[in-house]
Amino acid sequence: MSFLSKRLERIKPSATMAITAKAAELKVAGRDVIGLGAGEPDFDTPDDIKEAGILAIRKGWTKYTKVDGLQELKEAITEKFKRENNLIYSSDQINVGVGAKHVLFNALLATLDPGDEVIVPAPYWVSYPDMVSLAEGKPVIISPNEKNGFRLSPSALEAAITPRTKWLIFNSPSNPTGVAYSSKELAEIATVLIRYPHVHVMSDDIYEHLVYDDFKFATLAAVEPSIFNRVLTINGVSKAYAMTGWRIGYAGGDVALIKAMAKIQSQSTSNPASMCQVAAIQALNGPQNFIQKRRTEFQKRRDMVVNMLNDANGITCQKPEGAFYVYPSCKGLIGTKTPLGDTINSSEELAKYLLDSVGVAVVHGAAFGLDPHFRISYAASMTILEEACLRIQRAVKELN
Ligand SMILES: Cc1ncc(COP(=O)(O)O)c(C=O)c1O
Repeated sequence: MSFLSKRLERIKPSATMAITAKAAELKVAGRDVIGLGAGEPDFDTPDDIKEAGILAIRKGWTKYTKVDGLQELKEAITEKFKRENNLIYSSDQINVGVGAKHVLFNALLATLDPGDEVIVPAPYWVSYPDMVSLAEGKPVIISPNEKNGFRLSPSALEAAITPRTKWLIFNSPSNPTGVAYSSKELAEIATVLIRYPHVHVMSDDIYEHLVYDDFKFATLAAVEPSIFNRVLTINGVSKAYAMTGWRIGYAGGDVALIKAMAKIQSQSTSNPASMCQVAAIQALNGPQNFIQKRRTEFQKRRDMVVNMLNDANGITCQKPEGAFYVYPSCKGLIGTKTPLGDTINSSEELAKYLLDSVGVAVVHGAAFGLDPHFRISYAASMTILEEACLRIQRAVKELN
């Protein structure tokens, strides 16, 4: 009998976290490495939010709170949903967890029985399929039609639905592609969902505020109110407020589901850290104008990175609407040889070559379920990104 559980065999460690750790390790060893693997803003948490957290500790917010979140935070969240998304939730329809990742986990554990199917459109955030497997569900991956520019098509969604389908996990703007769906595109997805009342949706809106040019963010439950009760609208403070380490995520959904999620949470983590919840109230209720400034900066970075990658031999890069990732294709480099004579057979081998030859860490596409591509996070300064792109251009020129 093995000591470690069979459950462990169903999952892999997060590839993005592994690349970030590897880049950090090489830097400590003295290598000149630029890490473009991390999924977090390089900006700092705004000062008013930090102060709210510090003050919360001083005021004694150091004890347990209600398992799935402070009432005051739930009220700030219902206000946010009303103000920004036109979604009307009451506070008993809100779950607050230790990051959006935890909220997703609560929902999957609360609803999946062995073999229940969860549709995950590729390319996907690395954690979705593994979280489904941990909860004993079956991830059903839909591969995108390249012509759709990484978008889930309504017909592909319909073809993947079976009587065992419990959830569709839907993420816009997307990690890893940055693709975001307009309200018209969401309405087309919703037309399919209306026909299958047993299918629920996790709408992961964590990159909501990071959209560029004139793109208008929209979310499924607001676009199609008739499916409101079947949508769990997931969000959090990690990305928009640069609060990844504070670990606060939240969701709005049907009361029975929210109660079930709290039951799971009551026997696992209990409440998210109390002082972090107080800081999240400040994030949601406090000044929001810094978000626009950061958005402008991210947009400049996106434009530069996309242009420079498109100038690199064998790489083509689509300009995405949001998030802080690009997902270029490296199809043109498959089959080429490195100066050392090794053949590049996959994006994973290309990523290894980029790290070894020019010290740039990117994440290979297989981790996100769609190859041959790789992901670059542009959550770094213009200077660093320019240097990284120049290095990539130099490295791929050496391939033939
Ligand atoms: C698509 C997506 N959803 C959820 C999360 C998790 O965010 P949190 O820090 O709130 O757990 C991430 C983080 O990378 C993400 O990219």
